[in-house]
Amino acid sequence: MIRSAVRGTGSALPTRIMKNADFEHVVETSDEWIVQRTGIRQRHIAGEGETTATLGEAAARAALHDAGLTPDDIDLIVLATSTPDNTFPASAVDIQNRLGMTHGFAFDMQAVCSGFVYAINTADLYIRSGQVRRVLVIGSETFSRILDWSDRSTCVLFGDGAGAVILEAVEGEGTVADRGILASSLRSDGTHKEKLYVDGGPSTTQSVGHLRMEGREVFKHAVGMITDVVEATFVASGVTAEELDWFVPHQANKRIIDASARKLGIAEEKVVITVDLHGNTSAASVPLALAIAARDGRIKPGDLVLLEAMGGGFTWGAVLLRW
Ligand code: ACO
Repeated sequence: MIRSAVRGTGSALPTRIMKNADFEHVVETSDEWIVQRTGIRQRHIAGEGETTATLGEAAARAALHDAGLTPDDIDLIVLATSTPDNTFPASAVDIQNRLGMTHGFAFDMQAVCSGFVYAINTADLYIRSGQVRRVLVIGSETFSRILDWSDRSTCVLFGDGAGAVILEAVEGEGTVADRGILASSLRSDGTHKEKLYVDGGPSTTQSVGHLRMEGREVFKHAVGMITDVVEATFVASGVTAEELDWFVPHQANKRIIDASARKLGIAEEKVVITVDLHGNTSAASVPLALAIAARDGRIKPGDLVLLEAMGGGFTWGAVLLRW
């Protein structure tokens, strides 16, 4: 049977780093409050000329280099983002153009912080259907551009960045020993829209708008939703938490990550954490964390890796794969 296996990873971050202490001149907050409530110590903020498409292109080039491939080898680009450069065309098509690709096709996916998990699931389905052989799956965001910089309850939480993964078709036996994606579970529920949304858009205000969030409400739902989809992948695959090598969660808040890992029975040393360095980069957080853990040698071929995310909508999902 056809499986979608990881062939390469890459990441890109804006040059400018903003530390927690730098916020003390922006809003009434402190390094101590931010670290204690979120685990975040710093985040990267896009500067002039750094956009979702340029960061996505840089992450894509790094992933191609890691995989030993060129844009000619890619059939499809799926970009997960909620902060595209323009309302249209899709920033994925801009990245395709920047890579010098005039073959294949590209599109954006919008599931906010769950975007990368949705995108990797979509890429897997395209590969397993036989329609494409290799997919560049990118998560790229510039949330700094939709933040209300006078709202201390949101502006300290987010950062900018991009991560990319190349998935390719490989032959598998149909068992959990196969390389590639073994199980996925996606969910959404629009009744939670008001808890995390952007108060603008082309069809309502004809403007971009700013991020609005009831943080405590999001927190209340996060752990239950995350653990539900993860458990669905365990049931579908027969894999148990003890068998996992790495847990690469969406990096929104260290307390959500710790509580989810505890509830699932995943040992602390198996959890990849980047939220301290990047803040919440929305759809970029999982591929950024994956690229970093692969590059530093933590994630190795044959390892069983669990990804999850939860975000605006609400949307949430999990993917289980063997590296
Ligand atoms: N600095 C100092 N004080 C602050 C700040 C700040 N940056 N922000 C809020 N406060 C104050 C509040 O005004 C409040 O003061 P009050 O008690 O006088 O009213 C107090 O701190 C406590 O506020 P809470 O919102 O109850 O604080 P909480 O412990 O819930 O932490 C946080 C807030 C960090 C936003 C938390 O709720 C959270 O992380 N929620 C999840 C949100 C999230 O991560 N969303 C990302 C997308 S969804 C996802 O990815 C899971």
